[in-house]
Amino acid sequence: MAVEKVEASLMDRESQAINRLLDWLRIPSISTDPEYKAEVRAAAEWCAAQLREAGLTTDLHETGSPDQPGHPVVWAHTDGPAGYAGPHVLFYGHYDVQPPDPLDLWESPPFEPVIKPADPGAQGEVPGERIVARGAVDDKGQVSMFLEALRAWHDETGSIPIKLSVLIEGEEESGSANLEKYLQDNKAALEKADICVISDTGMLSRTTPAITYGVRGLEYTEITLHSADQDLHSGLWGGRVPNPINELAKTLAKLWDDNGRVTIPGFYDDVLDIAPEEQQSWKQFEQGQVAALKKIGLDDSANRGESGFNAVEREWARPTCDVNGIWGGYTGAGAKTVIPAHATAKVSFRLVANQDPAKIAVLFKKWLDDNTPQGCRFEFTDFHGGWPGTVSTESPYLAAASRALASAAGTEPALIKSGGSIPVVGMLKKSLGLDTLLVGFGLDDDRMHSPNEKFELSCWRMGLRSHVRMIDEFAKMTV
Ligand code: BES
Ligand code: MN
Ligand code: MN
Repeated sequence: MAVEKVEASLMDRESQAINRLLDWLRIPSISTDPEYKAEVRAAAEWCAAQLREAGLTTDLHETGSPDQPGHPVVWAHTDGPAGYAGPHVLFYGHYDVQPPDPLDLWESPPFEPVIKPADPGAQGEVPGERIVARGAVDDKGQVSMFLEALRAWHDETGSIPIKLSVLIEGEEESGSANLEKYLQDNKAALEKADICVISDTGMLSRTTPAITYGVRGLEYTEITLHSADQDLHSGLWGGRVPNPINELAKTLAKLWDDNGRVTIPGFYDDVLDIAPEEQQSWKQFEQGQVAALKKIGLDDSANRGESGFNAVEREWARPTCDVNGIWGGYTGAGAKTVIPAHATAKVSFRLVANQDPAKIAVLFKKWLDDNTPQGCRFEFTDFHGGWPGTVSTESPYLAAASRALASAAGTEPALIKSGGSIPVVGMLKKSLGLDTLLVGFGLDDDRMHSPNEKFELSCWRMGLRSHVRMIDEFAKMTV
């Protein structure tokens, strides 16, 4: 059978496949930083070449507008075999990466990928053989599992056995600002798809794969509190005028009540309750919490958040507000007695169904207006948002993916949600009515977005086999 032949070839081609991924990881495709524009494009070209070699019709599509160009989308398509009656699958991934800072904490340079050996004496949750580089797991390494599965199907059987479109974007890590318009402009091609597949999430553990059926949404803002039109001597002016840092800190502290709930009026209006069946089935995941805290240097006293919900519920089904950065005044060496003219904070919200990021931005702005300290003024910037995404667990596509994962891993996949955000999931649902399967192979300790990001080869191999088998399962379906 074809799938066995394709699987058998994976071993022979492994070292070349890994070398290809290492080549991609060497391209610093940092989408937020304009300095890296050319490198971002080079990463897109690299990816397009892989898809071409797998026999797909492939193009780079420009995004944004002539005065504000975005990073290109890699688009590819194949019609599949003549007379194909299965689903039209859309694969989505992203080739851009987060900035590597802080650089001094990397054990090896972020864009010089290395394969580190497993620790022979290691027991349990200790990294095995792994690739260390920015983008190793988020998301180049995970996209490479799919690219290599395509290549293997193409090389071993001469073609791809399903109808497939591929959309790999370069702006996910900077908020997918141009994606909504891209989806609208290409609606005709996209709305023909039956299901979207994404590998950009995690497994339950090293040995148990997972299908993620929900991700949270996001609303990201920056606020600056201004007072005097100049920095002031704190001896002459301290006690006479508001200090924007003191006032910003006091204002931010009002965002949560003693129960850990966000105090912005209307914030919870659209939040759906957790279904009793979900609450029941999530109990099995709660026991991992103590170990998870221990791994980041905490004990159970740090198991805190909105009261009335356990940690799994808080991550998967409750909205939050977090300050992601705060600065102002003097931060250099030694002392400087100053009352600064302004202070700034980055404030973001993780959202759950059915919260609307645009509505949350409006509510927060109004809350700031109502809570502006006297003698001060708030400046508000709305960066980006994304809707929460939830996927039905009943679909035949999920069943097909589940069979593929079970046979690739030798264990049934867990059905989980995640607190992270992938803006395209909500966009595809809203603008095209398209459901997504989130089939990812990352681990909690992969250090996504942090120094020494890694992807374990055992996870990469499982993902590669899973993609080979998912393609086969989809090919066997009729829609
Ligand atoms: N791949 C992540 C999201 C993710 C990770 C989801 C693990 C579930 C499990 C993605 O690249 C990411 O980092 N998303 C950002 C949002 C984006 C708008 C910058 C996030 O979640 O902060
Ligand atoms: Mn990602
Ligand atoms: Mn990311």
